[in-house]
Amino acid sequence: MIGTGTIGIGRSVRRGAGVRAGILTTALLTVTALVALPQSTAHAADTLGAAAAEQGRYFGAAVAANRLGEAQYAATLNTEFNSVTPENEMKWDALEPSRGSFSFGNADRIVNHAQGRGMSVRGHTLVWHSQLPGWVSGLGAADLRSAMNNHITQVMTHYKGKIHSWDVVNEAFQDGGSGARRSSPFQDKLGNGFIEEAFRTARAADPNAKLCYNDYNTDGVNAKSNAVYAMVRDFKARGVPIDCIGLQSHFNPNSPVPSDYQANIQRFADLGVDVQITELDIEGSGTAQATNYGNVVRACLTVTRCTGITVWGIPDKYSWRASGTPLLFDDNYGKKPAYHTVLSALGGSSSGDPGGPGNPGAACTATYTTTEDWGSGYNGQVTIKAGGSRISGWSVNVTLTAPQKVISVWNGTPTWDGSGNVMTVRSSWNGTLEAGASTSFGFTVNRNGNSTPPQLGPCTAS
Ligand code: XIL
Repeated sequence: MIGTGTIGIGRSVRRGAGVRAGILTTALLTVTALVALPQSTAHAADTLGAAAAEQGRYFGAAVAANRLGEAQYAATLNTEFNSVTPENEMKWDALEPSRGSFSFGNADRIVNHAQGRGMSVRGHTLVWHSQLPGWVSGLGAADLRSAMNNHITQVMTHYKGKIHSWDVVNEAFQDGGSGARRSSPFQDKLGNGFIEEAFRTARAADPNAKLCYNDYNTDGVNAKSNAVYAMVRDFKARGVPIDCIGLQSHFNPNSPVPSDYQANIQRFADLGVDVQITELDIEGSGTAQATNYGNVVRACLTVTRCTGITVWGIPDKYSWRASGTPLLFDDNYGKKPAYHTVLSALGGSSSGDPGGPGNPGAACTATYTTTEDWGSGYNGQVTIKAGGSRISGWSVNVTLTAPQKVISVWNGTPTWDGSGNVMTVRSSWNGTLEAGASTSFGFTVNRNGNSTPPQLGPCTAS
């Protein structure tokens, strides 16, 4: 009875101490059960998909049909994500390897897997110069036009009602400063109008699917994204159907997350299209990678029309850029620092985190070392490490034994209690720590004859 009243609300488990005292003698068994409860985090979503859903977004992964039978792969997908994109299975070479003969088997496997578990599906991709079967490139203009329209119509009709957004055209613009269209069979034989035609055909085939233009190196404001921007503005002005822009967002040290990422998302949104982050991966590791991931997620959440994020794979080992370890799970499906940062940026909190109403999941640890000792005095260092979520401030009590005296403190802001023995050190410039990241502060102590080492209290995060 008592159990059911408190189990569902995590915070009241701890607040129940007074209640426990009152019922102790009469309800020992119930009390035991109550005390043994894990610290529930029911107040904060503890998976990427659930946390994103609370923000009105989806959080998806690119998946491969031939991995769905791997237990850990499927378990991670099913637990963490609420949207999928077939990584290769809906590309032209997979769906229509020879003219007019469609093979939907692998793509259907992914769609069925998703639908059976309440996940949504992104369709990727209808018209693209890559992974295009040779028979398409060999066609003359008139044939190519009807092959393109037939491909769009057949595929979208097959998946009608099952796909929330389609990448209708992928990567049609050139890299670099020209803002020109990329050479491809479609561009070269049908001219600029092929994109518009593809979108019109797509709208007719499935009027309820969102129609996206998807590309890479269009994540910041640059010549290529300017060209896409001009196209979208023109489409909107002329009533050509387009609903969304896909920013692939493949990042690495040579192509980092642009500082104007959010501004770029916003300017597309302001044209009246949704923005989806469609193929996110960020090469790197540890805190640096986590920080980049956090920045991407926060940029998306800041723009109302940024409606969802898809990462381009689940564990690093299956990434198309595996050597860059660009994903959220390591090769053994362990959650990387980037995972925790993403979850926290989405407003979620890893299970097991203490949680709290102000900053759910905020937690840190503090550890002490003496870095220098000269007999009459010593330098102490306290390392603060963020737990499973990003924190924006920390504090810790350092208790000295009289008559020791602290004579200086750096990288932290100290205050003392009345006795002068307990020093509370709060973060100064170094309060923001990504999940798993650390910082340290230091202080110098005059021993005044006492050699007891300082004692640390618990770390408090905000
Ligand atoms: C990649 C897949 O991840 C690889 O497995 C495949 O070998 C090549 O294509 N832009 C896109 C995606 O739009 O379709 C690409 O996916 C990555 C770059």
